[in-house]
This record gives sequence, C-alpha cells and structure tokens, in this order.
Amino acid sequence: MADEMPLVEWLEESKAVLADRLEGRTPQVAIVLGSGLGPLAEQVQDAVYVPFSEVPHMKTSTASGHVGRFVCGMLGGKEVVCMQGRLHGYEGNSAQEVAYPIWLMHAIGADTLVTTNAAGAINEGFQVGDFCVMSDHINFTGRNPAAGQQPDRLAMRFFSMHECYDPALRQLAREVADAESVPLREGVYLGLLGPSFETAAEIRAFRAWGADTVAMSVCEEVVAARHVGMRVLGISLCSNMACGIGGASPSDAEVFEVARRSEANFCRLVRGILERL
Ligand code: HPA
Repeated sequence: MADEMPLVEWLEESKAVLADRLEGRTPQVAIVLGSGLGPLAEQVQDAVYVPFSEVPHMKTSTASGHVGRFVCGMLGGKEVVCMQGRLHGYEGNSAQEVAYPIWLMHAIGADTLVTTNAAGAINEGFQVGDFCVMSDHINFTGRNPAAGQQPDRLAMRFFSMHECYDPALRQLAREVADAESVPLREGVYLGLLGPSFETAAEIRAFRAWGADTVAMSVCEEVVAARHVGMRVLGISLCSNMACGIGGASPSDAEVFEVARRSEANFCRLVRGILERL
C-alpha cells in the first residue's frame, strides 16, 4: 500500500464539489446501476447530472454500457443518488478506487445502498431474465477496500459482514417482486475480478461452495458500504447461464441483450422498493 490515497482529505474535497452541484439535495439512497441497467436513471425526476470526471479524485468509467455519472434527484418518492455506470477492478482500478464513490455517496448523506449488476446464473433452477436478491456473498476478488492505513481513519478497521445484505430490505424486495410479478430468486453471489469470464471448471467449484450467481462487481462496494455502516440491498439480473451450465459460453453481447429486455421489470422492481422503503 505504498501509494495509498489520502482518503479522508480527498473525500472532503470531492464532497465539497458534489454537494455544491447538488444544490441542497441530500440523497438518502445510493443506487449503483450495473451493466445495461442504467436506463433507470432516466426516470429520476428533477435530476442533476454530475459526470464522474467533474468530481475531483473520482476515476471514470471505461466499461461499455457504463455512462459514468452521478444522477441525483427523486425516484419512487425518495431522494436518490444513482451511479449510472460503476467502476470495476478489471478496468485497472484498485479496491479503494472502486469503493471511493460508495464512501462519497455516504459522505453526502446516503445511509442505504442498492447495488445492482448483471450476473451469470450458476444455480440450474434459475432462468435467464430472473432477478436474484443477494442473501450473502463470496468475495473472490482477492481484494478488500478497507485494507490499508487510510480506511482505518474513516471507520473501524474490523467490522462484521454477518447479514451484510439487510434482511428487512431483502424481505421488502420479495414483497415488491410478488406484487409486481417480477421473477425474483434469492441466493449467494460470488464476485471475481474479471475481465475473463469463468471456466466451466471454476463454475463447478463455485457451485460446490454454495454460489448461485457470479459476476465481476459488487463485493468491494458492499464491503465499503458495511465499513461505514450503510444498509445494503444487492440485486442481480441473471443475464446468462454461467459458463458450462447447459453448455453456456457467456458473452457481453448476450448480457446487454438480456438487460435490454429486462429493463421494464428492473425499473418496476427498484422503483417499488424505493416507494415502500
Ligand atoms: N460471469 C461473470 N460476470 C458476468 C457474467 C458471468 O457469467 N454475466 C454477467 N456478468
């Protein structure tokens, strides 16, 4: 950790710029919109758009389908700040760089994180197009954003990850999915660095570990959010069957096509959750 960022000072500087652009808005809920799920941000009312590139110390999104801006306004009757596009480890970002916008959204007032992604389904009972609320995760990125001297200045070094996905929020997600007739599963999510998709042998191993879904994001964000005490809800869209399941060989084209088809369900689900929060 030779060149760790001066986290506390940088967050103060980023917060000053972002808060100024938000003109008094104080978002309660932070939402990270994953691959192909960005269109929900178009439904934010009274929106202010702040590109990541205009916030000091923020990295910018380079992944396709990730616009790379904060969208702040009202959604489902709540003040929200959305990340329309996220930062991934596979883009060359450190774990702390991936976590930085989560800590920043917390610093401007968000006490709840809803993080979403497209994921491969390992559980053979799941279907492409299903959503899956995360019950727990396996952080197989090999990285932890709270490691180092700087995060220890932000919050306690050691913190529990027990029930890191809030049980009450998971229950709420199930109720909304039922009411809106959105297919929703619940399962253990496994996060990897990427960018290669997994091998079929890896998927068999992950299934034996109890993983139901797999993708290349979320874990570092959730660790960062729990580090500062945010409530967390994680939702995946099962955009494909994971490698080798029924002969599947995932591609990003398939991920985006399924995300496009699932857009309406995704918007109803997340809006409904916000309305009842
Ligand atoms: N593996 C990893 N990441 C993913 C997948 C997958 O099958 N689908 C969408 N993101």
